[in-house]
Amino acid sequence: MEKNPAPQFACSQQILQTARRNVSKTTWDYINGAAGSETTLRRNRYALDSLAFLPRVMRDVSKVDAKPTLLGHKCRLPLVLAPMGSMHLMHKDGAVASSKAGGQFGVPHILSSVARHSPAEVAAANPKGFKIWQLYIRGDIEWIKPRLDEAKKAGFKALVMTVDAANYGIRDRQILNSFERPSADIQGEDRDFQAAMTWEKMAEVKKYWGGPMILKGIATAADARLAVEHGIDVVYVSNHGGRELDHGRGTMDMLPEIVQAVAGRAEVWIDGGFVRGTDVVKALCLGAKAVGMARLQAWSIAAGGTAAMAQTLLNLEEEIVNCMGLIGATSLDKLGPEYLTRVTPMGPTHEHSQFRHIGPDPII
Ligand SMILES: Cc1cc2nc3c(=O)[nH]c(=O)nc-3n(C[C@H](O)[C@H](O)[C@H](O)COP(=O)(O)O)c2cc1C
Repeated sequence: MEKNPAPQFACSQQILQTARRNVSKTTWDYINGAAGSETTLRRNRYALDSLAFLPRVMRDVSKVDAKPTLLGHKCRLPLVLAPMGSMHLMHKDGAVASSKAGGQFGVPHILSSVARHSPAEVAAANPKGFKIWQLYIRGDIEWIKPRLDEAKKAGFKALVMTVDAANYGIRDRQILNSFERPSADIQGEDRDFQAAMTWEKMAEVKKYWGGPMILKGIATAADARLAVEHGIDVVYVSNHGGRELDHGRGTMDMLPEIVQAVAGRAEVWIDGGFVRGTDVVKALCLGAKAVGMARLQAWSIAAGGTAAMAQTLLNLEEEIVNCMGLIGATSLDKLGPEYLTRVTPMGPTHEHSQFRHIGPDPII
């Protein structure tokens, strides 16, 4: 990948500002908003901002390696492009643009089953990258099977089942804007199957899929233990960015107990408010193997499609490597909780509180 494909975006603050200009207020609120009082959303950031680094010095950090192996795939960064169903609202190429950037750069992309682009279309744009397919349940096992076949045929190597959306969150920003959900016409609205999901039915899906399986939306040690007992390969810690259950915990507050419960028997991935390299390094210190990014991905695609997404990944790489060097860790296996301490967050926390220099733009 060329060093600086979108030089107009020197840092993520500029990407955020451009994204805001490129989409309508209703779309902006749809991406950024969350359920009810948006307490869960804000707690994601609060939990991240409640941690500060304890840097160690003079350890020869002239070479830093931040390349993980995720589910057996060598990746360039411990990042995952999280599933997002409405990427076509950000850019005409939607999920295709994200997946292409992920493939070119070398990080996995998760395609949502409610995305406007099909697995085959995404695979055509990203033939060699590590591609993962995410399933929402809108039918019985006979409805699910051909969809799994389609993803497998297109070259998707792992399956995500999102399990924290038994009900669609009551999202005030969407209601106030009379926003019509873009995914409603993709898979229909028969959400009863999602609500009726059980561990037994999940096991049936897993058996038919036959490959690596990820449960996204695990928020307690008890469910993490159950996931491992069911042979799940990745426990993906998430609260859906606060978009479903309000008054949940921040994901970084869940992570230590879940890592402990999993006890190395599966990989642990996480998302929820991660927008900076320093955020990513904090999660790795607490035992996550990879960090998912959704809203930052949406902002990047809205700002400039594949090129802006690629720039975001380059910026994150610089930030992660920079942070690891500054705390004295030369490789991912050297990161641990000894690099972190609890602090009081600086100021109010919300989805844009990490972007402090975007200028006098009242719309953000
Ligand atoms: C606009 C939007 C659409 C999303 N669509 C999906 C989806 O189709 N499937 C899914 O599992 N999660 C979906 N999510 C949740 C994200 O994958 C992720 O878990 C959440 O946004 C937290 O990450 P973030 O804080 O980086 O945004 C969506 C999130 C947003 C903001």
